[in-house]
Amino acid sequence: MKITAIRGFRDILPDESGLWQVLTSQARASFSTYGFSEIILPLLEKTELFARAIGETTDIVEKEMYTFTDRDDSSLTLRPEGTASVIRAYIEHSLHQKEPVSKLFYIGPMFRRERPQKGRYRQFHQIGAEILGRDDALIDAELLLMLNDFFTALRLDVSIDVNSLGCATCRPRYRERLRTFGESKFAALCENCHGRLQRNPLRILDCKEEGCRHATIDAPILADFLCDPCRQHFGQVQTLLHNERVKITVNPRLVRGLDYYCRTSFEVLALGLGSQNAVCGGGRYDGLVEQMGGPAIPGIGFAIGVERLAMLLQAQERQNAEAPDMFIAPMGEVAENQAFAVARRLRQDGYRIELESGRRSLKAQMRRADKLAVPYVLILGENEITAGKGTVRDMQTKTDRSLAVDLSASAQDMMKAIRASDV
Ligand code: HAM
Repeated sequence: MKITAIRGFRDILPDESGLWQVLTSQARASFSTYGFSEIILPLLEKTELFARAIGETTDIVEKEMYTFTDRDDSSLTLRPEGTASVIRAYIEHSLHQKEPVSKLFYIGPMFRRERPQKGRYRQFHQIGAEILGRDDALIDAELLLMLNDFFTALRLDVSIDVNSLGCATCRPRYRERLRTFGESKFAALCENCHGRLQRNPLRILDCKEEGCRHATIDAPILADFLCDPCRQHFGQVQTLLHNERVKITVNPRLVRGLDYYCRTSFEVLALGLGSQNAVCGGGRYDGLVEQMGGPAIPGIGFAIGVERLAMLLQAQERQNAEAPDMFIAPMGEVAENQAFAVARRLRQDGYRIELESGRRSLKAQMRRADKLAVPYVLILGENEITAGKGTVRDMQTKTDRSLAVDLSASAQDMMKAIRASDV
């Protein structure tokens, strides 16, 4: 019988590994502009490290770790994430004594025994980054800015969801309030959430079960419970990003599956990835270094899932490859006739042209053109067309310019004029 790979463990074949190269190189390039250096960590650690750092009652530690007893009876675990190992190394090598702020990144495989599905594997890879030694809002904003730069450089359209998870002063009050709320909805919650109510009530906000989502729709939100310093901190992070025109979405229901987070927490979500749409997760963990036996040093970081990122890039490339060369948006009946003739002329020469009905609004047509990822839209307005003109919109730069529509010109000349970037 032939031997196959273990369930949830994938081979990255040559047709995919090139893409991985592209995105890890981009990560190295983006991170180095912010002063990060690489740390290379072991794959195996003592089990205790993850139990203490991630939290005994998290799904990862309770159900998903690959743990085994070594020949000397010690319990070892294949790392399910990188943050715990970074903190261990940071304390073990007293990195805080060498520099007041450490900015470290890592790239490598992680192991979680989850139920495999598209975008979720038992061995997966992360590109992670951690900053130790600063707790001001500026550094949180900088880290999010770096993430934004990275996704922008890859031309990926993502949504950065952020929330503040408060601190040891304000969160306990919220946790109790949420527990009381959850108990009032007990019958509507799933069995998993019954357990969560006892162990970590915040996680009921994160349940994927329809019944739980419905029952917690009007749950109290943490934002209303934040103490003044946490509120200020979060406000400043948002202002800094807003000033840099980084689009973030404040999601008051965002909670994380690992216990160590406080204050700024975030997830990067991608459209078109199905249910496994989180390409990156992270946040602040101010008490963790101390809890792990080190000095009271704050930290913040994130990890990007490489498999999901590669899937996203592939989907985008596919979409670009299939996109029409041009979209024609006629406005009204006269323009429609002209558009019909232009489309026919161009298609005869093999150009892929998408033609819309002149009865749809320009806004609706543009939305569709955006969705199809076309590079150019030829807008034919009623008045313009009688003057033998149209407008070309460059969809990448979102700029318009006027164009003479000459049906006696060859298809190539017509396309050339449309694609000419500056006329
Ligand atoms: P996490 O949210 O558990 O955070 O994982 C980060 C990312 O790893 C996820 O957003 C996802 O893209 C990817 N990922 C997680 N599990 C799987 C899986 N089974 N298959 C494929 N991809 C997966 C952490 O791991 C934290 N250590 C992040 C962090 C760093 N927080 C602070 N610093």
